Amino acid sequence: MPGLGVVGIQWGDEGKGKIIDMLSRYADVVVRFQGGANAGHTIVAEGKKVILHLVPSGALHEKKYCIIGNGVVLDPEVLKREIEELKSLGFLKDDRRLMVSGLAHLIMPYHKKLDVLKESKGSKKIGTTGRGIGPAYEDKMGRMGIRVVDLLDKKVFKERVKENLELKNFLIKRYYKEEPFKIREIIKAYDVYRKFLKRYAKDTSAFLHRCIEKDMDILFEGAQGTYLDIDHGTYPYVTSSNTVSGNIASGAGVPPSSINYILGVCKAYTTRVGEGPFPTELFDDTGKRIREIGGEFGATTGRPRRCGWFDAVIAKRAIRLNGVNGLAIMKLDVLDGFEKIMVCTKYRMRGRIIDEPPMGIEEYRECVPVYEEMEGWRSSIRGIKSFEELPVNAKNYLRRLEELLQTKIDIISTGPERENTILINLYFRERRSA
Ligand code: GDP
Ligand code: IMO
Ligand code: MG
Repeated sequence: MPGLGVVGIQWGDEGKGKIIDMLSRYADVVVRFQGGANAGHTIVAEGKKVILHLVPSGALHEKKYCIIGNGVVLDPEVLKREIEELKSLGFLKDDRRLMVSGLAHLIMPYHKKLDVLKESKGSKKIGTTGRGIGPAYEDKMGRMGIRVVDLLDKKVFKERVKENLELKNFLIKRYYKEEPFKIREIIKAYDVYRKFLKRYAKDTSAFLHRCIEKDMDILFEGAQGTYLDIDHGTYPYVTSSNTVSGNIASGAGVPPSSINYILGVCKAYTTRVGEGPFPTELFDDTGKRIREIGGEFGATTGRPRRCGWFDAVIAKRAIRLNGVNGLAIMKLDVLDGFEKIMVCTKYRMRGRIIDEPPMGIEEYRECVPVYEEMEGWRSSIRGIKSFEELPVNAKNYLRRLEELLQTKIDIISTGPERENTILINLYFRERRSA
Protein backbone atom coordinates (compact mmCIF):
# COMPACT_ATOMS: atom_id res chain seq x y z
CA MET A 1 0.00 0.00 0.00
CA PRO A 2 2.62 2.58 -0.95
CA GLY A 3 1.03 5.47 -2.90
CA LEU A 4 -0.14 8.87 -1.68
CA GLY A 5 -1.53 11.33 -4.24
CA VAL A 6 -1.48 15.07 -3.49
CA VAL A 7 -3.80 17.18 -5.63
CA GLY A 8 -5.08 20.74 -5.63
CA ILE A 9 -8.84 21.02 -5.24
CA GLN A 10 -9.24 24.67 -6.28
CA TRP A 11 -7.63 26.64 -9.15
CA GLY A 12 -4.00 25.81 -8.40
CA ASP A 13 -1.42 27.42 -6.07
CA GLU A 14 -3.06 25.79 -3.06
CA GLY A 15 0.32 25.11 -1.43
CA LYS A 16 1.04 21.68 -2.91
CA GLY A 17 4.79 22.40 -2.97
CA LYS A 18 4.93 22.98 0.77
CA ILE A 19 2.93 19.82 1.48
CA ILE A 20 5.00 17.63 -0.86
CA ASP A 21 8.23 18.96 0.64
CA MET A 22 6.95 18.30 4.13
CA LEU A 23 5.68 14.81 3.33
CA SER A 24 8.86 13.92 1.40
CA ARG A 25 10.52 13.34 4.72
CA TYR A 26 8.38 10.23 5.12
CA ALA A 27 8.51 9.08 1.47
CA ASP A 28 11.07 7.37 -0.77
CA VAL A 29 9.98 8.66 -4.18
CA VAL A 30 8.23 11.81 -5.46
CA VAL A 31 6.62 11.78 -8.92
CA ARG A 32 5.23 14.56 -11.12
CA PHE A 33 2.60 13.05 -13.45
CA GLN A 34 1.14 15.93 -15.51
CA GLY A 35 1.55 19.56 -16.48
CA GLY A 36 4.89 21.19 -17.10
CA ALA A 37 6.72 24.37 -16.21
CA ASN A 38 3.39 26.18 -15.90
CA ALA A 39 3.52 24.90 -12.32
CA GLY A 40 5.24 26.98 -9.67
CA HIS A 41 5.64 25.10 -6.41
CA THR A 42 7.12 27.11 -3.56
CA ILE A 43 9.09 25.56 -0.73
CA VAL A 44 10.48 27.47 2.21
CA ALA A 45 13.04 25.34 4.01
CA GLU A 46 16.29 25.81 5.86
CA GLY A 47 15.86 29.56 5.50
CA LYS A 48 15.73 29.33 1.71
CA LYS A 49 12.82 29.91 -0.63
CA VAL A 50 12.84 27.71 -3.72
CA ILE A 51 10.28 27.75 -6.54
CA LEU A 52 10.19 24.53 -8.55
CA HIS A 53 8.54 24.33 -11.95
CA LEU A 54 9.54 20.86 -13.13
CA VAL A 55 11.72 19.11 -10.59
CA PRO A 56 9.50 17.31 -8.05
CA SER A 57 9.19 19.04 -4.68
CA GLY A 58 11.04 16.21 -2.90
CA ALA A 59 14.33 17.57 -4.27
CA LEU A 60 15.21 19.48 -1.11
CA HIS A 61 15.60 16.23 0.79
CA GLU A 62 18.61 14.03 0.28
CA LYS A 63 18.17 10.39 -0.71
CA LYS A 64 14.73 10.78 -2.29
CA TYR A 65 14.07 9.66 -5.83
CA CYS A 66 12.50 12.43 -7.93
CA ILE A 67 10.67 11.30 -11.06
CA ILE A 68 9.29 13.35 -13.95
CA GLY A 69 6.67 11.01 -15.37
CA ASN A 70 5.52 10.36 -18.93
CA GLY A 71 2.46 12.59 -18.48
CA VAL A 72 4.56 15.73 -18.04
CA VAL A 73 5.42 18.03 -20.96
CA LEU A 74 9.09 18.78 -20.44
CA ASP A 75 10.89 21.99 -21.28
CA PRO A 76 14.58 20.98 -21.26
CA GLU A 77 15.70 24.60 -21.00
CA VAL A 78 13.74 25.05 -17.75
CA LEU A 79 14.86 21.70 -16.36
CA LYS A 80 18.53 22.43 -17.04
CA ARG A 81 18.29 25.81 -15.35
CA GLU A 82 16.37 24.41 -12.41
CA ILE A 83 18.88 21.62 -11.78
CA GLU A 84 21.76 24.12 -11.95
CA GLU A 85 19.98 26.43 -9.50
CA LEU A 86 19.25 23.61 -7.07
CA LYS A 87 22.87 22.47 -7.19
CA SER A 88 24.13 26.00 -6.59
CA LEU A 89 21.95 26.13 -3.47
CA GLY A 90 23.49 22.89 -2.23
CA PHE A 91 20.56 20.59 -3.09
CA LEU A 92 20.40 17.61 -5.50
CA LYS A 93 23.88 16.48 -4.60
CA ASP A 94 23.20 13.03 -5.97
CA ASP A 95 21.37 13.88 -9.17
CA ARG A 96 21.22 10.24 -10.29
CA ARG A 97 18.14 10.12 -8.11
CA LEU A 98 16.41 12.47 -10.55
CA MET A 99 14.86 10.65 -13.52
CA VAL A 100 12.89 11.77 -16.54
CA SER A 101 10.59 9.44 -18.42
CA GLY A 102 11.76 8.76 -21.97
CA LEU A 103 8.08 8.90 -22.92
CA ALA A 104 7.57 12.48 -21.69
CA HIS A 105 6.85 14.92 -24.52
CA LEU A 106 9.19 17.81 -25.13
CA ILE A 107 8.24 21.46 -25.17
CA MET A 108 9.75 22.95 -28.31
CA PRO A 109 10.47 26.64 -28.99
CA TYR A 110 7.54 26.78 -31.43
CA HIS A 111 5.17 25.61 -28.66
CA LYS A 112 6.10 28.58 -26.51
CA LYS A 113 5.83 30.95 -29.46
CA LEU A 114 2.44 29.59 -30.53
CA ASP A 115 1.15 29.76 -26.94
CA VAL A 116 1.96 33.47 -26.77
CA LEU A 117 0.73 34.21 -30.29
CA LYS A 118 -2.59 32.46 -29.72
CA GLU A 119 -3.14 34.53 -26.59
CA SER A 120 -2.37 37.76 -28.41
CA LYS A 121 -4.89 37.16 -31.18
CA GLY A 122 -8.66 37.20 -30.84
CA SER A 123 -10.79 37.85 -27.80
CA LYS A 124 -10.72 34.42 -26.10
CA LYS A 125 -7.71 35.03 -23.93
CA ILE A 126 -7.15 32.26 -21.39
CA GLY A 127 -4.36 34.02 -19.53
CA THR A 128 -1.95 31.10 -19.95
CA THR A 129 1.50 31.03 -18.40
CA GLY A 130 3.04 31.22 -21.90
CA ARG A 131 5.09 28.09 -21.23
CA GLY A 132 3.94 26.26 -24.36
CA ILE A 133 1.75 23.82 -22.43
CA GLY A 134 -1.37 23.88 -24.66
CA PRO A 135 0.48 23.56 -27.99
CA ALA A 136 2.68 20.73 -26.63
CA TYR A 137 -0.30 18.69 -25.44
CA GLU A 138 -2.07 19.42 -28.77
CA ASP A 139 0.86 17.83 -30.58
CA LYS A 140 0.93 14.90 -28.19
CA MET A 141 -2.74 14.15 -28.83
CA GLY A 142 -2.31 14.89 -32.53
CA ARG A 143 0.48 12.29 -32.63
CA MET A 144 3.02 14.83 -33.82
CA GLY A 145 4.81 15.31 -30.52
CA ILE A 146 8.50 14.73 -29.92
CA ARG A 147 9.42 12.70 -26.85
CA VAL A 148 12.58 12.63 -24.77
CA VAL A 149 13.44 9.24 -26.30
CA ASP A 150 13.11 10.76 -29.79
CA LEU A 151 15.56 13.51 -28.87
CA LEU A 152 18.11 10.92 -27.78
CA ASP A 153 18.25 9.60 -31.37
CA LYS A 154 19.81 12.37 -33.45
CA LYS A 155 18.35 11.17 -36.76
CA VAL A 156 14.82 10.58 -35.48
CA PHE A 157 14.86 13.98 -33.78
CA LYS A 158 15.89 15.84 -36.92
CA GLU A 159 13.19 14.14 -38.98
CA ARG A 160 10.51 14.91 -36.41
CA VAL A 161 11.52 18.56 -36.10
CA LYS A 162 11.49 18.87 -39.88
CA GLU A 163 7.96 17.44 -40.17
CA ASN A 164 6.73 19.68 -37.40
CA LEU A 165 8.31 22.84 -38.71
CA GLU A 166 6.57 22.53 -42.07
CA LEU A 167 3.24 22.96 -40.36
CA LYS A 168 4.27 25.25 -37.52
CA ASN A 169 6.15 27.66 -39.77
CA PHE A 170 3.20 27.80 -42.14
CA LEU A 171 1.02 28.84 -39.22
CA ILE A 172 3.53 31.27 -37.77
CA LYS A 173 4.29 32.90 -41.13
CA ARG A 174 0.91 32.91 -42.82
CA TYR A 175 -1.56 33.14 -40.00
CA TYR A 176 0.34 35.09 -37.36
CA LYS A 177 2.62 37.00 -39.78
CA GLU A 178 5.68 36.34 -37.65
CA GLU A 179 9.22 35.15 -38.26
CA PRO A 180 9.42 31.37 -38.89
CA PHE A 181 11.83 29.07 -36.99
CA LYS A 182 15.06 27.86 -38.55
CA ILE A 183 15.63 24.11 -38.22
CA ARG A 184 19.38 24.63 -37.80
CA GLU A 185 18.92 26.75 -34.71
CA ILE A 186 16.55 24.31 -33.05
CA ILE A 187 18.83 21.34 -33.78
CA LYS A 188 21.79 23.23 -32.35
CA ALA A 189 20.01 24.19 -29.14
CA TYR A 190 18.60 20.69 -28.66
CA ASP A 191 22.00 19.05 -29.27
CA VAL A 192 22.94 20.58 -25.93
CA TYR A 193 19.76 19.23 -24.32
CA ARG A 194 20.40 15.75 -25.75
CA LYS A 195 23.71 15.58 -23.93
CA PHE A 196 22.16 16.98 -20.79
CA LEU A 197 19.06 14.73 -20.77
CA LYS A 198 20.90 11.49 -21.54
CA ARG A 199 21.88 11.22 -17.90
CA TYR A 200 18.32 11.51 -16.62
CA ALA A 201 16.20 9.74 -19.28
CA LYS A 202 14.91 6.41 -17.96
CA ASP A 203 12.06 3.94 -18.18
CA THR A 204 10.49 5.50 -15.10
CA SER A 205 7.41 3.26 -15.22
CA ALA A 206 9.62 0.16 -14.85
CA PHE A 207 11.51 1.90 -12.04
CA LEU A 208 8.28 2.74 -10.20
CA HIS A 209 7.09 -0.85 -10.53
CA ARG A 210 10.25 -2.02 -8.80
CA CYS A 211 9.60 0.55 -6.05
CA ILE A 212 6.06 -0.77 -5.65
CA GLU A 213 7.35 -4.34 -5.43
CA LYS A 214 9.72 -3.27 -2.69
CA ASP A 215 6.81 -1.62 -0.84
CA MET A 216 8.49 1.80 -0.98
CA ASP A 217 6.50 4.94 -0.19
CA ILE A 218 5.64 7.02 -3.25
CA LEU A 219 4.26 10.55 -3.34
CA PHE A 220 2.47 11.64 -6.50
CA GLU A 221 2.71 15.42 -6.88
CA GLY A 222 -0.19 17.06 -8.65
CA ALA A 223 0.25 20.33 -10.48
CA GLN A 224 -2.44 22.96 -11.11
CA GLY A 225 -5.83 22.25 -9.54
CA THR A 226 -9.11 20.44 -10.14
CA TYR A 227 -10.83 23.45 -11.75
CA LEU A 228 -7.99 23.80 -14.24
CA ASP A 229 -8.54 20.17 -15.35
CA ILE A 230 -9.16 19.88 -19.09
CA ASP A 231 -12.37 17.84 -18.53
CA HIS A 232 -13.60 18.90 -15.11
CA GLY A 233 -12.43 22.50 -14.92
CA THR A 234 -14.01 25.75 -16.06
CA TYR A 235 -13.42 24.96 -19.74
CA PRO A 236 -12.03 26.64 -21.82
CA TYR A 237 -10.34 28.56 -18.98
CA VAL A 238 -8.28 25.54 -17.97
CA THR A 239 -4.89 23.99 -18.57
CA SER A 240 -4.36 21.25 -21.16
CA SER A 241 -3.99 18.20 -18.94
CA ASN A 242 -6.07 16.18 -16.52
CA THR A 243 -5.11 17.43 -13.10
CA VAL A 244 -7.38 15.11 -11.11
CA SER A 245 -6.15 12.04 -9.24
CA GLY A 246 -7.62 9.80 -11.97
CA ASN A 247 -4.67 10.81 -14.15
CA ILE A 248 -1.99 9.75 -11.68
CA ALA A 249 -1.92 6.20 -13.00
CA SER A 250 -1.53 7.00 -16.68
CA GLY A 251 0.70 10.04 -16.14
CA ALA A 252 3.12 8.17 -13.90
CA GLY A 253 2.83 4.76 -15.55
CA VAL A 254 1.58 2.88 -12.49
CA PRO A 255 -1.59 0.85 -11.90
CA PRO A 256 -4.50 2.68 -10.19
CA SER A 257 -4.26 0.11 -7.40
CA SER A 258 -0.91 1.58 -6.35
CA ILE A 259 -2.56 4.82 -5.24
CA ASN A 260 -3.98 4.27 -1.81
CA TYR A 261 -4.71 7.66 -0.35
CA ILE A 262 -5.56 11.04 -1.82
CA LEU A 263 -4.75 14.23 0.04
CA GLY A 264 -6.72 17.21 -1.27
CA VAL A 265 -4.93 20.52 -0.81
CA CYS A 266 -6.84 23.81 -0.52
CA LYS A 267 -6.36 27.27 0.85
CA ALA A 268 -8.57 28.52 3.68
CA TYR A 269 -9.86 30.93 1.01
CA THR A 270 -9.75 30.81 -2.81
CA THR A 271 -7.46 32.24 -5.49
CA ARG A 272 -7.20 32.03 -9.25
CA VAL A 273 -4.68 33.33 -11.83
CA GLY A 274 -5.71 33.97 -15.41
CA GLU A 275 -9.17 34.37 -16.89
CA GLY A 276 -12.38 32.44 -16.21
CA PRO A 277 -15.30 32.30 -13.79
CA PHE A 278 -14.67 32.60 -10.06
CA PRO A 279 -17.94 33.13 -8.14
CA THR A 280 -16.46 34.09 -4.74
CA GLU A 281 -13.94 36.57 -6.17
CA LEU A 282 -13.70 39.76 -4.10
CA PHE A 283 -13.15 43.03 -5.95
CA ASP A 284 -13.11 45.15 -2.81
CA ASP A 285 -10.60 45.95 -0.07
CA THR A 286 -11.09 42.52 1.50
CA GLY A 287 -9.83 40.88 -1.70
CA LYS A 288 -6.89 43.28 -1.75
CA ARG A 289 -6.15 42.54 1.88
CA ILE A 290 -6.07 38.77 1.28
CA ARG A 291 -3.74 39.30 -1.71
CA GLU A 292 -1.37 41.45 0.30
CA ILE A 293 -1.28 39.36 3.46
CA GLY A 294 -1.18 36.08 1.53
CA GLY A 295 1.47 37.33 -0.92
CA GLU A 296 -0.85 36.20 -3.68
CA PHE A 297 1.32 36.79 -6.73
CA GLY A 298 1.98 34.01 -9.25
CA ALA A 299 5.04 31.83 -8.55
CA THR A 300 5.56 31.33 -12.30
CA THR A 301 4.51 34.60 -13.90
CA GLY A 302 4.39 37.04 -10.98
CA ARG A 303 0.83 38.05 -11.92
CA PRO A 304 -1.44 39.17 -9.06
CA ARG A 305 -3.78 36.34 -8.10
CA ARG A 306 -7.49 36.99 -7.92
CA CYS A 307 -8.66 36.39 -4.34
CA GLY A 308 -11.96 35.46 -2.72
CA TRP A 309 -13.67 33.53 0.09
CA PHE A 310 -13.66 29.76 0.47
CA ASP A 311 -15.99 28.09 -2.02
CA ALA A 312 -17.41 24.87 -0.55
CA VAL A 313 -19.42 24.17 -3.73
CA ILE A 314 -16.32 23.58 -5.83
CA ALA A 315 -14.36 22.00 -2.98
CA LYS A 316 -17.07 19.42 -2.35
CA ARG A 317 -17.27 18.42 -5.99
CA ALA A 318 -13.47 18.25 -6.23
CA ILE A 319 -13.35 15.96 -3.19
CA ARG A 320 -15.73 13.60 -4.96
CA LEU A 321 -13.92 13.80 -8.32
CA ASN A 322 -10.52 13.05 -6.80
CA GLY A 323 -11.68 10.62 -4.14
CA VAL A 324 -10.08 12.80 -1.49
CA ASN A 325 -9.52 10.90 1.76
CA GLY A 326 -8.21 13.79 3.80
CA LEU A 327 -7.64 17.54 3.46
CA ALA A 328 -4.71 19.89 3.91
CA ILE A 329 -6.03 23.38 4.72
CA MET A 330 -3.37 25.92 3.82
CA LYS A 331 -2.69 29.54 4.70
CA LEU A 332 -5.09 29.67 7.64
CA ASP A 333 -2.82 32.38 9.11
CA VAL A 334 -3.70 34.71 6.24
CA LEU A 335 -7.20 35.02 7.71
CA ASP A 336 -5.83 36.27 11.06
CA GLY A 337 -7.54 39.47 12.12
CA PHE A 338 -10.52 39.35 9.78
CA GLU A 339 -13.63 40.25 11.75
CA LYS A 340 -15.93 38.05 9.67
CA ILE A 341 -15.07 35.15 7.41
CA MET A 342 -17.45 34.03 4.68
CA VAL A 343 -17.92 30.53 3.31
CA CYS A 344 -19.83 29.96 0.11
CA THR A 345 -22.14 26.97 0.59
CA LYS A 346 -24.34 27.25 -2.52
CA TYR A 347 -24.77 29.34 -5.66
CA ARG A 348 -27.73 31.36 -6.80
CA MET A 349 -28.04 31.09 -10.56
CA ARG A 350 -30.86 32.54 -12.70
CA GLY A 351 -33.22 32.63 -9.71
CA ARG A 352 -32.43 29.09 -8.55
CA ILE A 353 -30.31 27.82 -5.67
CA ILE A 354 -27.82 25.17 -6.82
CA ASP A 355 -25.19 23.12 -5.02
CA GLU A 356 -23.24 21.82 -8.03
CA PRO A 357 -21.33 24.15 -10.37
CA PRO A 358 -23.14 24.46 -13.72
CA MET A 359 -21.63 22.85 -16.82
CA GLY A 360 -21.98 25.86 -19.15
CA ILE A 361 -19.43 28.64 -18.88
CA GLU A 362 -22.01 31.43 -19.33
CA GLU A 363 -24.13 29.99 -16.51
CA TYR A 364 -21.01 29.72 -14.40
CA ARG A 365 -20.31 33.42 -14.85
CA GLU A 366 -23.80 34.18 -13.56
CA CYS A 367 -23.42 32.23 -10.32
CA VAL A 368 -23.67 34.38 -7.22
CA PRO A 369 -22.37 32.87 -3.98
CA VAL A 370 -24.69 32.18 -1.06
CA TYR A 371 -22.61 32.84 2.05
CA GLU A 372 -22.54 31.62 5.57
CA GLU A 373 -20.91 34.10 7.94
CA MET A 374 -18.43 33.00 10.57
CA GLU A 375 -16.70 34.92 13.34
CA GLY A 376 -13.02 35.58 12.75
CA TRP A 377 -10.22 35.42 15.31
CA ARG A 378 -8.15 38.33 16.56
CA SER A 379 -4.84 36.74 17.48
CA SER A 380 -2.05 35.52 15.24
CA ILE A 381 -1.94 31.79 14.58
CA ARG A 382 1.28 32.02 12.57
CA GLY A 383 3.49 29.01 13.22
CA ILE A 384 1.10 27.24 15.61
CA LYS A 385 1.79 23.49 15.63
CA SER A 386 -1.13 21.98 17.49
CA PHE A 387 -4.87 22.14 16.97
CA GLU A 388 -5.48 22.78 20.70
CA GLU A 389 -3.51 26.03 20.58
CA LEU A 390 -5.72 27.55 17.88
CA PRO A 391 -8.21 30.26 18.92
CA VAL A 392 -11.71 28.94 19.34
CA ASN A 393 -13.05 30.73 16.24
CA ALA A 394 -10.32 29.22 14.07
CA LYS A 395 -11.28 25.78 15.41
CA ASN A 396 -14.93 26.53 14.67
CA TYR A 397 -14.06 27.57 11.12
CA LEU A 398 -12.14 24.35 10.49
CA ARG A 399 -14.84 22.18 12.06
CA ARG A 400 -17.45 23.87 9.88
CA LEU A 401 -15.36 23.18 6.77
CA GLU A 402 -15.10 19.50 7.74
CA GLU A 403 -18.84 19.40 8.23
CA LEU A 404 -19.67 21.12 4.94
CA LEU A 405 -17.18 19.02 2.99
CA GLN A 406 -17.83 15.83 4.90
CA THR A 407 -14.12 15.11 4.86
CA LYS A 408 -11.61 15.10 7.68
CA ILE A 409 -8.74 17.56 7.87
CA ASP A 410 -5.33 15.84 8.08
CA ILE A 411 -3.05 18.88 7.93
CA ILE A 412 -3.43 22.57 8.78
CA SER A 413 -0.82 25.01 7.54
CA THR A 414 -0.09 28.10 9.63
CA GLY A 415 2.81 29.62 7.70
CA PRO A 416 5.02 29.02 4.64
CA GLU A 417 7.82 27.17 6.46
CA ARG A 418 7.96 23.40 6.81
CA GLU A 419 7.59 23.71 10.56
CA ASN A 420 4.50 25.95 10.46
CA THR A 421 2.24 22.95 10.31
CA ILE A 422 -0.36 21.14 12.40
CA LEU A 423 -0.24 17.43 11.64
CA ILE A 424 -3.38 15.60 12.59
CA ASN A 425 -3.19 12.44 10.48
CA LEU A 426 -0.18 11.44 8.47
CA TYR A 427 -0.73 8.55 6.12
CA PHE A 428 2.91 7.55 5.62
CA ARG A 429 3.88 7.96 9.25
CA GLU A 430 0.95 5.89 10.41
CA ARG A 431 1.70 3.27 7.77
CA ARG A 432 5.32 3.03 8.90
CA SER A 433 4.51 2.74 12.57
CA ALA A 434 1.73 0.18 11.92
P1 GDP B 1 1.48 25.38 -5.26
O1 GDP B 1 1.56 25.77 -6.68
O2 GDP B 1 0.22 24.66 -4.93
O3 GDP B 1 2.70 24.65 -4.77
O4 GDP B 1 1.43 26.75 -4.42
P2 GDP B 1 2.36 28.06 -4.68
O5 GDP B 1 3.73 27.78 -4.22
O6 GDP B 1 2.18 28.56 -6.06
O7 GDP B 1 1.63 29.12 -3.75
C1 GDP B 1 1.51 28.94 -2.38
C2 GDP B 1 2.20 30.13 -1.65
O8 GDP B 1 1.77 30.16 -0.31
C3 GDP B 1 3.69 30.00 -1.58
O9 GDP B 1 4.25 31.29 -1.64
C4 GDP B 1 3.94 29.35 -0.23
O10 GDP B 1 5.22 29.68 0.31
C5 GDP B 1 2.87 30.01 0.58
N1 GDP B 1 2.34 29.20 1.69
C6 GDP B 1 2.10 27.87 1.74
N2 GDP B 1 1.49 27.52 2.89
C7 GDP B 1 1.34 28.67 3.60
C8 GDP B 1 0.74 29.00 4.85
O11 GDP B 1 0.20 28.15 5.55
N3 GDP B 1 0.75 30.31 5.21
C9 GDP B 1 1.31 31.28 4.46
N4 GDP B 1 1.25 32.53 4.90
N5 GDP B 1 1.88 31.02 3.27
C10 GDP B 1 1.88 29.74 2.84
P1 IMO C 1 0.49 25.19 -9.83
O1 IMO C 1 0.99 23.79 -10.05
C1 IMO C 1 -2.31 28.32 -10.94
C2 IMO C 1 -3.46 28.57 -15.16
C3 IMO C 1 -2.99 29.77 -15.96
C4 IMO C 1 -4.14 29.89 -16.94
C5 IMO C 1 -4.51 28.45 -17.22
C6 IMO C 1 -3.90 27.87 -18.49
O2 IMO C 1 1.53 26.15 -9.41
O3 IMO C 1 -0.71 25.18 -8.95
P2 IMO C 1 -1.44 27.06 -19.13
O4 IMO C 1 -0.14 27.80 -19.15
O5 IMO C 1 -1.46 25.87 -18.23
O6 IMO C 1 -1.94 26.73 -20.51
O7 IMO C 1 -2.50 28.12 -18.52
O8 IMO C 1 -4.06 27.70 -16.11
N1 IMO C 1 -2.38 27.80 -14.49
C7 IMO C 1 -2.18 27.83 -13.17
N2 IMO C 1 -2.75 28.55 -12.19
N3 IMO C 1 -1.38 27.42 -10.64
C8 IMO C 1 -0.80 26.66 -11.59
O9 IMO C 1 0.05 25.66 -11.32
C9 IMO C 1 -1.16 26.87 -12.94
N4 IMO C 1 -0.79 26.33 -14.12
C10 IMO C 1 -1.56 26.89 -15.05
O10 IMO C 1 -2.84 30.90 -15.16
O11 IMO C 1 -5.23 30.50 -16.32
MG1 MG D 1 1.85 27.48 -7.87
